[in-house]
Amino acid sequence: MPNTVLIGAQWGDEGKGKVVDVLARDADVVVRYQGGSNAGHTLEIGSERFVLHLVPSGVLYPEKLCIIGNGVVVDPLELKSEIEALMARGISLEGRFWVSDRAHAVLPYHRRQDAAREQRARPGQRLGTTQRGIGPAYADKAHRTGLRMGEFCRPGWEAKVQMRAEESGCIDGAEMVATLREAAAFLAPFIGDTTARLHEEWRRGRTILFEGAQGTMLDVDHGTYPFVTSSNATAGGASTGTGLPPRAIERVVGVIKCYTTRVGEGPFPTELKDETGDLLRRRGREFGATTGRPRRCGWFDAVVARYAAAVNGVDYWALTKLDVLDECETIRVCVAYECDGRRLDRVPADAETLARCQPVYEEFPGWKTCTSGVRQYEDLPRPARAYVDVLCRLTGVPLGLLSVGPDRASTFRLAI
Ligand code: IMP
Repeated sequence: MPNTVLIGAQWGDEGKGKVVDVLARDADVVVRYQGGSNAGHTLEIGSERFVLHLVPSGVLYPEKLCIIGNGVVVDPLELKSEIEALMARGISLEGRFWVSDRAHAVLPYHRRQDAAREQRARPGQRLGTTQRGIGPAYADKAHRTGLRMGEFCRPGWEAKVQMRAEESGCIDGAEMVATLREAAAFLAPFIGDTTARLHEEWRRGRTILFEGAQGTMLDVDHGTYPFVTSSNATAGGASTGTGLPPRAIERVVGVIKCYTTRVGEGPFPTELKDETGDLLRRRGREFGATTGRPRRCGWFDAVVARYAAAVNGVDYWALTKLDVLDECETIRVCVAYECDGRRLDRVPADAETLARCQPVYEEFPGWKTCTSGVRQYEDLPRPARAYVDVLCRLTGVPLGLLSVGPDRASTFRLAI
């Protein structure tokens, strides 16, 4: 397998965890490069269900090297409990899991700042964050006042943490040190120079899978700003977030659902606030893996998908959740927008303009057959295959993988 970046092509929750799990089989190293515990990657393996927030999804294969890169913001308390939960289920991380010493820590006051900002926000300015402290942690990084994991686990970290807490004005320094003490000791053996380690693996010709979190439309630069997360969820982030150069990346796989969802606030042109939206939510089990919030649901937006294909340089789609559409009589796909009397073929940069965009739909026949038990692509009903072809044609990206259910057996690997 070529070194592959896997990104979300919509607003997150495209099913990346499951696709990483499939591709990780052929990789030697799986590395997360951005985001933090705002992510929630759900994996179903046999009768077992795992939700991972920080640890790369490749961890479920016993022999893979798993890395949290420098671009991730790491909540030490969350990471400790995630590792413990994995260990309790018999999954060992010893000797094969590393956290970058350059990754920034999410400290308890970041969570408080995140929640306080959301509470204070005026109508229309609320972002609907996951309240995991992501924005404030990245803000401290950009402000050059953040604490990196390398420092955090060296002697003397207590004084630094105490100073940060006092500067934040929202938490007692001694209390924060006490809260973090156990996590610091627990995580210390996992922290190291992952940039050097990744370069070594690359030089040795080992296959690297870059696991993106969130999605293109939540990217801080390319998404629906300000209704975005605070990191580069697009393929470019894979380089800055790991220290491997762009030429280490040989292929980009875009994970995309056969319809669209979004959690939190912000424009969403194809959103369905009717019973079809409810049907997608129910059939797709569209409730946040991190916050439990119901996801907003809508039709596939080919304008967004084309934009994601361009920004990330997507080589193949991994198309997920086709089975969710099984009960639909007809299926709509947004092929363009109409805004202020003009037709738009591209996603506008401005969120206010996007909020005024009306979708221009094309309609396709549904298949009204259960596809979740199908085990070969060729056995899918003809209209289902025709729908998949339409999505690929409208976006100019070939199909690499298709899934019709949550487990490993419902995934067809076609070209990747
Ligand atoms: P934050 O990343 O917690 O600051 O949240 C910013 C926005 O990104 C909110 O709309 C969240 O709902 C959204 N978001 C963050 N992480 C995820 C994710 O993993 N899936 C879907 N949406 C997310």
